[in-house]
This record gives sequence, structure tokens and C-alpha cells, in this order.
Amino acid sequence: MARYYITTPIYYVNAAPHIGHAYTTIVADVVNRFYKLMGYETFFLTGTDEHGDKIVQAAQEAGLEPQEYVDRISSLFRETWPTLTISYDHFIRTTDADHQRVVQYVLQKVYDAGDIYFGSYEGLYCVGCERFYTEKELVDGKCPDHDRPPVVRKEENYFFRMSKYQAWLIEHIEQHPHFITPERYRNEVLGFLRDPLEDLCISRPKERLSWGIPLPFDDRYVTYVWFDALINYISALGYPNGDRFHRFWSTAHHLIAKDILKPHAVYWPTMLKAAGIEPFQSLHVHGYWKIDEGKMSKSKGTVVRPLDLVHTYGLDAFRYFLLREMVFGLDANFSEEALVQRLNADLANDLGNLFSRTLAMAQRFCGGVVPALPATAPSLANEFLSIKAEEVKELYRAAMVEMEFHKALIALWELINRANKYIDETAPWEMAKRKDHERLATVMRLLLEINRLIAVLIAPFMPTTTQAMLERLGVRRSVEALRWTEDTALVRLTEGTPVQKGDALFPRVDNTTIRQRKGEDPSAVEVDRRVGAELIPLDLLQKVHLLVGTIIEAARIPKSKKLLKLTVDLGEKRQIVAGIAAHYEPDELIGKQVVVVENLMPAKLMGVESRGMVLAATSGDVLSLITTEKPMPNGSVVK
Ligand code: MSP
Repeated sequence: MARYYITTPIYYVNAAPHIGHAYTTIVADVVNRFYKLMGYETFFLTGTDEHGDKIVQAAQEAGLEPQEYVDRISSLFRETWPTLTISYDHFIRTTDADHQRVVQYVLQKVYDAGDIYFGSYEGLYCVGCERFYTEKELVDGKCPDHDRPPVVRKEENYFFRMSKYQAWLIEHIEQHPHFITPERYRNEVLGFLRDPLEDLCISRPKERLSWGIPLPFDDRYVTYVWFDALINYISALGYPNGDRFHRFWSTAHHLIAKDILKPHAVYWPTMLKAAGIEPFQSLHVHGYWKIDEGKMSKSKGTVVRPLDLVHTYGLDAFRYFLLREMVFGLDANFSEEALVQRLNADLANDLGNLFSRTLAMAQRFCGGVVPALPATAPSLANEFLSIKAEEVKELYRAAMVEMEFHKALIALWELINRANKYIDETAPWEMAKRKDHERLATVMRLLLEINRLIAVLIAPFMPTTTQAMLERLGVRRSVEALRWTEDTALVRLTEGTPVQKGDALFPRVDNTTIRQRKGEDPSAVEVDRRVGAELIPLDLLQKVHLLVGTIIEAARIPKSKKLLKLTVDLGEKRQIVAGIAAHYEPDELIGKQVVVVENLMPAKLMGVESRGMVLAATSGDVLSLITTEKPMPNGSVVK
């Protein structure tokens, strides 16, 4: 059986999880779910990095002992992930006894092989922080915390002979194009490998830092935090003898952001080489989430916490947004407005409408069950929509393998939009009127099957939505049990199975919600018309002729996302084009009473004649048709 091992960085426990951590961990979850769907045996690892001076400092600031502090923050990470439907297989902590044992084992092995030596280190040391700084970390040549220049200090330490493996590493990267992806990061690494590689200092004297794993060959020292942390990827599999290590290590894929490229692309492979362990398969590097085009910062109050957003906008909308918005490898900007925009347009409108329209029609035209395919109907595979579905499946799969999640979703949305158009073009309600039962059953069956296929393809991204869609389509299968070969086939539903429409999959969100969440005054929402417009005389108002009417027909206008063509009975029938397609389904409008401006000059909208205007109230993204408080005869005057 093919296998796939996916890891996230183990996060420092000096801060609570934010959207950056959530992104990498959700990507890992999406990848894991995708490979499971493809039939692979997978293993998904995440965890926390708990040693080092940063952690000691954070514990001191919190007024806690390091152990108590790391226990607390580590659980915060461990408990956050399942609430985002992230299903990891193992959560590793660098304070786990098993991990510490493996770190010591690897250190001893590399030491015995002669690749760790005792030497002296001279560097820039801040007495206040009790640690060395690199030139880059200093601000104007001073320690950023103490605002004073560091002193030059010499210290005896242990070093890993990293330089010895430089030539090997360059060759390995050059011969394995997928070792570091996307390519920009591979080039970046090859770029810094052009300069000679220095050996890596891998110890800290205990008198300076005691919160770490003691060196097995000299207990006056603890292990440098990166040498300790990177080993988590093998200790979690039970290296050296664990069964998991033998089964999964050769299929290891590491996910990280660009901030920790060097330790993963240089320290880690050379450490593995020195320990006689084969290199990982691939390192996949993504960009940074920025807030308002800047870095997330505690002091600016721009740290985005995933759980706050999930409570407001829903879990799957959040997961979808992150994966759709960021091009893997590049930076992306996070804004709540952009999230709401995608939620309303892609999820509520495109996907939500397709699903509710299909099920509403199945209710009306197929007696609420999956229709049988008429024996004489041509194969579903010949329909244009089916051909599109096959094409999209391939694009989706190829994009997922390349970690191009936004491309996979764009392809999938092409299918969703194509299916929405298919409904407009085939107009099943006309077939019902014509009593063309054969064609109606064929079209409806295909639509139900395409909705099922879409539910399967969104499963890695939005598993909760998939489960809800499958249940309403009468498919008794858990999202975890879905498999590509069987479940992406074109025909899978069972005829005669009841289907149910249910509530909207994604309720629309308006801008008031963002303001409320940000603690702003929600009554300050922009409204389309405000109190205080120009005054008009009564006779001008009397020129506007308002009548009550009933909508008797409603249909989408091809190529328009906004417009619906309505026939309204005002005592006489009127064709009116209304910009309400984003807010109402044609089906749900039939029989609604509305208020119409009857004497508006005729106009053509998208080539369709409109005589009159239907009135609606709007506020931000919300729109509601105006109706009378009790039913009135058609043609009643509004005054
Ligand atoms: N403990 C080390 C990793 C050791 S792995 C052997 C560490 N921890 S961290 O808490 O700082 O996490 C860094 C990682 O968090 C990034 O590589 C990325 O996965 C994620 N992100 C943190 N902030 C991020 C953004 N603003 N945007 C995207 N991802 C970010 O480094």
C-alpha cells in the first residue's frame, strides 16, 4: 500500500496559536485527507517545541515554572486543532521522555562517528539576555530587548561538522527537484549554499540554560533547541527500531513557512546524513500571512486568533478561505472583509445555491428521491457537464499533488459554475411543464450525481460540509471512508433514495457582523439610503405609481449573476428584470407578493426587456423584498 507521512513544524509554546499556525496545520490536514481519499496509508504529525531560552523567558514573564508553563500552552495547541477538524495521528512534545531519549541516541551516534567535536565559539553576547546574538538579530548594532550593544564573548561548546556535508547536500538538492518546493525556495537554498557552510554549535552550557536535553557525552551541557526539535520528525515514528519508522520515514513530507527554511533545508538533511538516516522526501515551503499588508504583531493588536473567526463565520468557511486565498509559496494578506466576500460569493452563492436548487427541484420534480435513469436515455457520460467533471477531476488531482490548493479549488468552482449554468440552460421546470419525463429524469440524476461528486472533492478542505451534503443526498458513507476510485465515479447514487433540501449550507454574512466582531458600532453600517436626503414635493411622489403584484414566473438570465427575469401579475402580466439573483432562488419567489413601481420607463437589461421595478430594502450585503402585511388582490394601489 502506498504511504504518505506529513508533518507540520512543532510550534514554540511561547504564544497561543494564531492564524499562521492554523494555516500550516490545516494545510497538513487537507493533504492528509487528500492522500487518504487517494487510498494511501497516511500518518500526520504535529506538536510543540518546548525547550530553549525563549520558552524560559516566556515562563518567567507568566510567573510560572517552565514545566507548568509548557504544559499549559502545549494543551492549548493540542486542543485547538480538533476544533478546526484537524485530525492529527500523533501530537509530539519535545519534553516527552521518548523524544528526549531519541535525541540523546542521535547525538551519541553522530558523536561516535566523529562528527561532533568540542571547540570554542566567539560571538556577540548580551549579558541581559544571557545569550548570543547574530549580527542580523541586532537592531542598530544593539540587543533589541536591552537596547545596548552586546559584548564579544568566547565560550566552549560542542559543534556539529555540518560543513563536511555541504557538497553532498548541494548534489542531493540538484538531483532531486522535489526535495525543496516550490522552486523559488530551492533556488534560495542553493543560493546560500554557494557560500561556505559553517559548523553548527549544538550545545549550551547548563550554567546559562538548564531547560534542555542534557548531552549524553557531557552533562555540563544541554542540546541546542534546533538540534533537539528537528529530531521530532523521526522520534515520533519510534526511530531507530519502531515499525512506524520503517513504514513511513521514506515517504516524509515536511510542511513549513519560509521563516524556518534554513534549519529544515540545511541543518536537518545534514544531521540525517551524519546519523546514517536517509533524507526526507520533500520540504514544502509556504509564504507568510500578513495583516493589513504588515506582520502580525501583538503590540499593534493584529494577531488573528482562529477560534474567534470560526465562531463567527463557521469552520469550513474559514478553512476554505485560507486554502483558496493563499497561493502556496507566496505571502497573502488576511482581512475579514475578504473572508466574508468569499463566504458569500463562493460558498453561499455558487456552491450553496447549486446544492439547494438541485435538491429543491428533486423535491418538486422527482418526488424527493433520486430518479432512475431512463433505460432509453443516452449515457450520462456524453453530457457536456460530465465531460467537464472528468476534466476538473484531473486538474484537481494534479494541483493537489503539487500543493497548488488554490488551483484545485478554482478548478472545482469551474465545475460548480458550469453545473449552475446547466440548470439555467436545461431549465428542468420547462421539461416538467412539457411533461418530458425522460429528459427531466436524466438531467436531474446528473445534477444530483454532480453535487455528490463535488461533495467528495471538497472533502479534504471542508469535511463537515461534505458530510452534510452526503447525508442530504441519501449517501450513507462517512467522509473518512470516501475513496477516489469508487467515489468519484460519475454514477454512484441509488435510485429511489430519499433526498432532503435542509437549511442553507452557508448562511450569508453581512458587514454588520464584521463590525460587531471588531467591537465597532453596528448601527454605523452603511445603508444604501440614509435619513436626510433631498426633500421632494408631494406631487412628485404622486407621480410614482406603486402596485401590489404576485410573482408567477422567475428564471435566471444567462450570463448574469445578479439578474432574474420575473413575470408579475399586477392585474395584467408584466415582465420585470430584478437584480436579486444573489439573494433569492427563482423557485422560492413563485407566489410571493411584492410592491412594484408600475410606471417606470421600460429598459433593457442584458438584452431582456423590463417594464417596472420590484422594490426591496437593502443594507450592506443583505436584501429583502418589500411585501404587504396581509395578502392583497393583485393591482392594489400602494400609497
Ligand atoms: N519551533 C520552531 C519550529 C521547529 S520545527 C522542527 C518554530 N516555531 S514557531 O512557533 O515559530 O512556528 C513557525 C511556523 O508557524 C511557521 O513555519 C509556519 O508554519 C507558522 N507560522 C507562524 N506565523 C506565520 C504566518 N504569519 N504566516 C504563515 N505561517 C506562519 O519556528
